[in-house]
Amino acid sequence: MASDLNHNQYRVIAIDGPAASGKSSVSQMLSEYLGFLHVNSGVMYRALAWSVLRAGIHANDDCAVVEHLRAIDLCCGISDNKATLTVGGVDPGGELKSSEVNSVVSAVSRVAEVRDVLVAKQREYLNVADIVMEGRDIGSVVFPETPYKFYIDASIEVRAKRRMKEGIVDDLAQRDAVDSSRETSPMVVADDAAVIDTSEMTLDEVLAEIIDRLRVSGLDALE
Ligand code: DC
Repeated sequence: MASDLNHNQYRVIAIDGPAASGKSSVSQMLSEYLGFLHVNSGVMYRALAWSVLRAGIHANDDCAVVEHLRAIDLCCGISDNKATLTVGGVDPGGELKSSEVNSVVSAVSRVAEVRDVLVAKQREYLNVADIVMEGRDIGSVVFPETPYKFYIDASIEVRAKRRMKEGIVDDLAQRDAVDSSRETSPMVVADDAAVIDTSEMTLDEVLAEIIDRLRVSGLDALE
């Protein structure tokens, strides 16, 4: 069920940006600072990619991917003030960050029917909590009405270095290309989003800038 912000008591802060831009770390820090729930929408696309791989389905076979999504129980919830996700009752945990998942997640995320299902799950969170949600299309498509939108960016060199430090294979340029060129809700900077280039910034500096801007925007959680 879609959330209508005009009739919703809860607030959402949208944090979009490419892979390894620092948006996950800063979203986590911001949610802790505000006491909001942190929801990483990328985890939902990763969970589908993980399940598709386990089922031996080709990630570019759109029909098979959609059929698979309809067949599995991809369950998103909240436990101990943390967003949770299970697939058929199993928590995929750290496997969602694997090189294998990185290599197919953009392919399954291209599919319009996949996005319809997962966007609906993302919107449901706003019916129950104030949230900081990160992703690619949160400010542009999932919650276009929110006045609190950020696009966190960094140069491809800086992002690649950050990934290398984590020891994970991730073809960022390839993911950027697929994520920003797909037909349905591509990664874009929402018209009214504040863009922050984190290439030369520490996480604390990024957090401070976001908080400053939220204060200027009148977010009452900061009063
Ligand atoms: O944020 P991330 O790198 O964990 O996201 C993994 C992939 O999921 C990303 O390459 C594209 C897809 N994604 C998306 O299409 N829309 C979102 N809102 C979040 C992620």
